[in-house]
Amino acid sequence: MTKAFIVGHPIKHSRSPLIHGFWLKQHGITGSYERIDVEPVNFGNFLNSFHGQGFAGGNVTIPHKEAAFAGVARKTGRAERLKAVNTIWIENGELWGDNTDVLGFMTNLDLTLGTGWEQDVDIALILGAGGAARGIVAGLQDRPIKRIFIVNRTIAKAEELVRDLARYGSVELKALSWEDLDQALGRSQLIVNTTSLGMAGQAPLHLDLAKAPGKAIVSDIVYVPLKTPLLAAAEAHGLRIVDGLGMLLHQAVPGFERWFGVKPEVTPELRALIVADL
Ligand code: ATR
Repeated sequence: MTKAFIVGHPIKHSRSPLIHGFWLKQHGITGSYERIDVEPVNFGNFLNSFHGQGFAGGNVTIPHKEAAFAGVARKTGRAERLKAVNTIWIENGELWGDNTDVLGFMTNLDLTLGTGWEQDVDIALILGAGGAARGIVAGLQDRPIKRIFIVNRTIAKAEELVRDLARYGSVELKALSWEDLDQALGRSQLIVNTTSLGMAGQAPLHLDLAKAPGKAIVSDIVYVPLKTPLLAAAEAHGLRIVDGLGMLLHQAVPGFERWFGVKPEVTPELRALIVADL
């Protein structure tokens, strides 16, 4: 019996147990995927003790991704680039960390839009400069895009992101303040919201999408609600949209494969199961 977990604080709203539980059942694997609530002060202890409690590894979520990065002995290049870890496991007696958020976002873009979508995209516009924005910038840096604008309420954070990530590729990264948004919008063929604006209970994100290029793609990493006000507005403008649920589903794949030894699939049935729970 293999056991895995998701550790965070708070953790009760996580949909990951539903995703991994679906795959465990689908593949007839005797295993479990459990929610574990650990306060920041106890996280170091948890990292050292989970293996002894019979866990093969697990996912790490807010607020522990940076602490997991600092606490693992070995990490993948992707985790190194983002200074954040969301997937951990033991290999040859060592604690390893990876970051699968990048893969989740990019796989979802590729599958939703079809490969080659970058041919229509010279400039991408990322709203926000937190951990999620870092993952998305890192993913886009490996694609044939010329420039990425990072617009953030606190411009210093966008500048810091650019300083940290600019060395990883030839895509030009440019930090902009919120006042520059409309101008950037007019030049960007891919627009991604990584802020919490538009999330249920939060203020919506208002973008003047009439200014966006006619063939622009609009994506939101928020998935509650699934169709955020931004995505609804984009659709009303005839733009292509990519919702945030696909990223959550696809980021889960590498962890499941690592702990349970089977590469699972993101199917319409799985998606419907999660949508019913939102
Ligand atoms: P995550 O790991 O999900 O990216 P985060 O690191 O807390 O979370 O980052 C949240 C992002 O949403 C930040 O870019 C934040 O902007 P600031 O750096 O200025 O704080 C952005 N954000 C949150 N609330 C916002 C609001 N009301 N208006 C504009 N941006 C907001």
